[in-house]
Order: sequence, then C-alpha cells, then structure tokens
Amino acid sequence: MKTACVRITRFGPPEVLEPGEVEIAAPGPGEVLVRHTGIGVNFVDVYHRIGQLHGDGPFPPFIPGVQANGVVEAIGPGVQGFAVGDRVTHANVGIGSYVAHRVLPADRLVRVPDALDDDLVAASYLRGLTCHYLLKRLYVVKPGDTVLVHAAAGGVGQLMVQWARRLGATVIGTVGSEAKAEYVRGLGCDHPIVYTRQDFVKETMRITGGEGVPVVYDSVGRDTFMGSLDCLRPMGIAINYGTASGQVEPFPLQRLHSKSLSVCRPTLRTWIAKREDLDRASTEFFELLADRSLKIDIAAKLPLSEAARAHELIEGRSISGAVLLQP
Ligand SMILES: NC(=O)c1ccc[n+]([C@@H]2O[C@H](COP(=O)([O-])OP(=O)(O)OC[C@H]3O[C@@H](n4cnc5c(N)ncnc54)[C@H](OP(=O)(O)O)[C@@H]3O)[C@@H](O)[C@H]2O)c1
Repeated sequence: MKTACVRITRFGPPEVLEPGEVEIAAPGPGEVLVRHTGIGVNFVDVYHRIGQLHGDGPFPPFIPGVQANGVVEAIGPGVQGFAVGDRVTHANVGIGSYVAHRVLPADRLVRVPDALDDDLVAASYLRGLTCHYLLKRLYVVKPGDTVLVHAAAGGVGQLMVQWARRLGATVIGTVGSEAKAEYVRGLGCDHPIVYTRQDFVKETMRITGGEGVPVVYDSVGRDTFMGSLDCLRPMGIAINYGTASGQVEPFPLQRLHSKSLSVCRPTLRTWIAKREDLDRASTEFFELLADRSLKIDIAAKLPLSEAARAHELIEGRSISGAVLLQP
C-alpha cells in the first residue's frame, strides 16, 4: 500500500523536506504495521537534513525521523505480545518516521500506558529515554549535586532540569534569552544563565563558590564545550550529548590532566540496545509522566506535510517545548 511521507533527496535548508508518498509492504516475520498518530521532531532530524553526519549517514534519498507513536494495524507472522489496536511508541529504530504508516520490528516497540495521552508521549519519549541514561546511568545524579545543563529550555533540557531536581540536585541551566530564563525558572531551574550575554563559566564558578560542578550536560557542542570543561570540579565529567551549534573541535587530551577530568560523547542508541534497558527506561519515564512529575510543553502541532515549518521552529531557537507532526 502507499502511505504519506516526507522525504529528503538532498541535504539543505528546511525546504528540502518534500511531502510525497511511499510504498510499504505488509509486515513480515517479527514485524508490525503501525499507523502513526504523532511524530516527534527532534534536533537530530536537523543534523540528518543538513548532512551533519556522525560517520554512518544517512545519505539522500531518505525519510527522516527517529521517533513516533501510533496504533497497531496489522501483525506479521510470529509476533507475540501485541494486538491490533494497541497504542505503541518507538524511538531510535533507525530513521524513517516521517510517514503515516510504518512497518517496525515488534521487539523495539513499547506499549503506551492507558493513563498517558498520545501527544504527551510522542512529544517526549525519545527525550525522556535520553534523560534517563544521562541522569541515572552515565553519571548518577545524587542529592546535593549541583549540575550544569546547557540549552535548559530545549526539549531535552527542560526534562533534564525537572528530573535532576527530582533527584535532589541543584540545577544551573544555560538558555538563549531572558524569556527562556524565566521559563526554566518556572520549571525549577535554580540558576538560569543567559549564555548569549553572560559568561557561563564565570557564573557557574560564582554560583558554586569557585568549586565547579561534578557534571556538565552539554548538547550545544562547538560553542560551549571547552567552557564546559572549565566549569568542572576535579574529577568531573563533561558529557557532550548533542551538537546544536556544531561538532566539538579536536583538542589535546592533555587538557584534561590537571583536574583529572573525563569526557564522554554518548548516544541513546547504545543505552537502549538491550530490551531490558529499553523497558526499564520506558517504565521509569512513563511513571514520572503519569504522576505529573514532569511537565511537557507542546509548542506546535503541525500536519506531516509541514515538516519544513517544524524544522524552522526548532532551529529558530525561539520556542520552548516540543514540536509534533500529525499524519
Ligand atoms: N546523544 C543522545 O543520546 C541524544 C539524544 C537526544 C537528543 N540529543 C541532543 O540533545 C539536544 C537537544 O535535542 P532537542 O531535540 O530537545 O532540541 P532542543 O534542545 O529543543 O533544541 C536545541 C537547542 O539548542 C540551543 N542552541 C544552542 N546553540 C544553537 C545553535 N547554534 N543553533 C540552534 N540551537 C542552538 C537552543 O537553545 P537556546 O536558544 O536556549 O540556546 C535550542 O533550543 C540536541 O543537541 C540533540 O542532538 C542527544
């Protein structure tokens, strides 16, 4: 059957996101056909569109998108544990989510709990899984820690702020404008820093009484990462998990020596590769959504055919909250 999609045939500005149709096959062994109800737009979709690659593509032509929610419409041979009509979500099953229907491996699908609204999950699932490994596995945030979160008003950032606070941390958060500073303060950020006009290293050292922080969560990359190293206390770790401003330039490893620092460049894919890890992160995230410990703002909900507009919004740095596409 044919289904609506948005495709990229060359790297470039948002206009390269072209609405069209794609042929999809019936689900094969171990596969499920899902009708998408909400497609989360993530910053990584921008990297894919502009060709800021991590070594392994994707190369045009391709259908972008790494996350969506939907309803099971058909089940392939041998699939157990899913039935037609189930509400499901998926993240990082390879690219290809900017489509109305998608055939997916059943072993990467997660059922959406009855208590949770579709849009809420579509707007936050991949980001929630990301926060889980950043805050609870890669560096384990403890009560009393002071942590620095860059781009704190962004999609991942605002979840990081709320979740880190819940784990007992004091949160310093950088943001691009006064309005965003006010916004993250409302989410519980103890010390917003407007890094477009304030020196975030000086501010972090002032706030921590000259000690520095044990961990920096840096999704901005090129513009911030060397400063992030300067914000660390001895034996601290700088985690570069995103490159919104570009990739971090090479630097001498010796730069880490005097304070015994660590750096890490992680990706969600590896942290949820095992089914038990995917299930644990999903369950813990859904619990926080269900008891309203995490507030999710949806900044815009657009038709799938307006994917280009969605990209303009998330690259434009003016919104605080998630952007959803609806087939
Ligand atoms: N490694 C992983 O496992 C993983 C998983 C998920 C997401 N990520 C990363 O996490 C980050 C956040 O993802 P998201 O989807 O939630 O996006 P987002 O945070 O909503 O958007 C990116 C934010 O980065 C900031 N920024 C700083 N310099 C920028 C620049 N030159 N151009 C555009 N934005 C700039 C902007 O906030 P200000 O205006 O406040 O500066 C912007 O809102 C992304 O870097 C993404 O790649 C990584």
